[in-house]
Amino acid sequence: MFEILEKERIGPGVNRAVISAPAIAQAHRPGQFIILRTHENGERIPLTVADKDPEKGTITLVWQEVGVTTYYMGTMCVGEKLQDLCGPLGKPTHIEKFGTVVGVGGGIGVAPLFPITKGMYEAGNNVITIIGARTEGLLIMTEDMKKVSHETLIATDDGSFGIHGFVTQVLQGLIDKGTKIDLAVAIGPVPMMKATVNVTRKANIPTVVSLNPIMVDGTGMCGACRVEVGGKTMFGCVDGPEFDAFEVDFDLLMKRLAMYKGPELIALNNFRETPRGCQCTFPGGA
Ligand code: FES
Repeated sequence: MFEILEKERIGPGVNRAVISAPAIAQAHRPGQFIILRTHENGERIPLTVADKDPEKGTITLVWQEVGVTTYYMGTMCVGEKLQDLCGPLGKPTHIEKFGTVVGVGGGIGVAPLFPITKGMYEAGNNVITIIGARTEGLLIMTEDMKKVSHETLIATDDGSFGIHGFVTQVLQGLIDKGTKIDLAVAIGPVPMMKATVNVTRKANIPTVVSLNPIMVDGTGMCGACRVEVGGKTMFGCVDGPEFDAFEVDFDLLMKRLAMYKGPELIALNNFRETPRGCQCTFPGGA
């Protein structure tokens, strides 16, 4: 169980792995996530299930190396096993035939956007996907997205691929040319989701975001994942991870996400000295 069956690098510091997890593959619905530990003393981290194959009993995880656990996972090989995988957690995405659904994915946010886009596509929606990254090398899953979208628009901040600009400019372009959008789903860095909401709010387009607060237990008991939505405290793990984007306090979310930057850096520096850490390439060439 939880054996890594396939693993590949799909971008700088971004990995994709197919994991044996039959029960989760059966029960998982778009929008839900898992919490894993790589080994007995490992921390618990949440990751969205990017894809699944219930017949084969596998799930696909896509992650970016940013902290100890994600770097550790980057060193794991086919045949190794994850210690624990708990899920599926969180509420599934509300999927129905809305009409035209625009999915906006930034950076690693494209991975959690994929199963939602697939669900919307299979429900008969006209699906337009906007994918963005800082530069061409950081674009992920573009071919996967094309398979579940009627139209896929790709933008890079530096113009190295596709449209030169931000996903928000592409979205504004769609609105300006009169595309009737019935629902927008935005997933990516918090500033990107906030900027997307600034565009959709003006155009009165209902918008859903999937939030990535710090999590510990993932079952509503610890309170680590508190987010403010519509002036109320909610738990990202059990009330979300998706919320009405117009109601989310993004500034508070950004502050909470930065709360443990210091300890995270210390932990990462300690990890560099371990056998696994020595296998990693850290930004800046460490
Ligand atoms: S992660 Fe603990 S309550 Fe949500």
